[in-house]
Amino acid sequence: MKNFRLIMMISVLIIMLFSMVECQPSKKITQTTKEQYIELCGACHGRNLEYLKEKEKWMFEKKYDTIFKVIKKGIKSVKMPAYENDLSDQEIQNMTNFILKELQQS
Ligand code: HEC
Repeated sequence: MKNFRLIMMISVLIIMLFSMVECQPSKKITQTTKEQYIELCGACHGRNLEYLKEKEKWMFEKKYDTIFKVIKKGIKSVKMPAYENDLSDQEIQNMTNFILKELQQS
């Protein structure tokens, strides 16, 4: 009987330990698209996209496909960097949608 209680206690402890490990928040740092924009693009285009918003005439159309391509491939002639090595397609997609949304609000 004594042994049984000991085994029970140990099992409860083990279960508690496992659940504690699972409950720990993931350590991976996830940046929001906005934070990513401020860090990567803010210096040239304004933290709040103000230089993109104020531009009277864009070099390219303000639509999804062209913005996606500009971010991915850059524009060599004006030193706009390409981000194909720094951002995944998914991240570029999020960034493009973020910019389109911000432009609509201005
Ligand atoms: C070193 C400066 C620099 C950085 C950093 C930079 N850009 Fe640019 N980008 C430019 C320049 C210069 C142009 C050309 C025209 C202008 O000034 O808007 C441009 C153009 C663009 C255009 C097209 C505008 C048009 O007229 O068609 C978009 C969209 C854009 N950038 C988005 C971004 C995004 C998103 C990032 C960050 C992931 C970024 N840029 C980072 C310098 C930069």
